[in-house]
Amino acid sequence: MNWIDIGHIDDVPLRGARQVKTKVGCLAVFRTAEDEVFAVTNACPHKGGPLSEGIVHGTSVTCPLHNTIFELSTGKSHGVDAYTIDTYPVRIDGDRILLNGDAIAQRSAA
Ligand code: FES
Repeated sequence: MNWIDIGHIDDVPLRGARQVKTKVGCLAVFRTAEDEVFAVTNACPHKGGPLSEGIVHGTSVTCPLHNTIFELSTGKSHGVDAYTIDTYPVRIDGDRILLNGDAIAQRSAA
């Protein structure tokens, strides 16, 4: 499996996010209060709100534009609006954040 080093864990603030440019577009890499990391599409499917600027709570993020809440592990929204964002495998190795390059390559080829 091809893992891409995208930075130090402290490059992403606790309960915050950082944008990462990839072949499939801009991703938002989130870090939760429990030091879990998640990578998802940055643009909200509703009207393109930048999810990396949203509020992180638990393993969810609230879109900064119209408050749709997405579960970061599944990409699914909560509530009546059935929006879904793409999720990408990401993990922590020591103090580095690694993004799965195979998943990026598969999506960019689709
Ligand atoms: S743009 Fe995200 S909820 Fe509207």
